[in-house]
Amino acid sequence: MDQVRVLFVCLGNICRSPSAQGVFEQVVAEAGLGDRILIDSCGTGPWHVGKAPDLRATEAALQRGVDIRHLRARQFSVEDFTSFDYILVMDRQNLADVRELRQSHGAGSDPQLFLTFGPGEGPVEVPDPYYGGADGFETVLDLIEAASQGLLEDIRERLS
Ligand code: 4NP
Repeated sequence: MDQVRVLFVCLGNICRSPSAQGVFEQVVAEAGLGDRILIDSCGTGPWHVGKAPDLRATEAALQRGVDIRHLRARQFSVEDFTSFDYILVMDRQNLADVRELRQSHGAGSDPQLFLTFGPGEGPVEVPDPYYGGADGFETVLDLIEAASQGLLEDIRERLS
């Protein structure tokens, strides 16, 4: 495979999935694979389309050297099933929502919980931080960072 395409999906595309996009873009750039791996993010819901990421997510990411201020929310579309090789969702609700769309669409990449690429003993969902405090955004980044390493290894095996 010449290029692997990765889509991170959450509910609003203003907290978890843009954070995952920013962190994973940095991991991929550091590995020298920026031209081999295409990365995007979106939300299952329509409410925040066109908006920049949540300020709390932006600030938490910036503290770790990741700038996601330029990202803008978009909603998941059925074309994404064929445009992306990896469709990585943050929680079981995202998984159920995307699976339902895939059933009616009939084909394309199978959605997976992003944290299946994590270290193993940890949680399988990235908890929604939207209605909580600042520490929720730190947890989101911790989980994303840990799973990003495993994801990169999985993708390396696909790249020829
Ligand atoms: P995200 O967080 O799915 O990580 O972007 C949320 C953002 C907005 C809402 C819920 C979750 N909302 O209900 O508006």
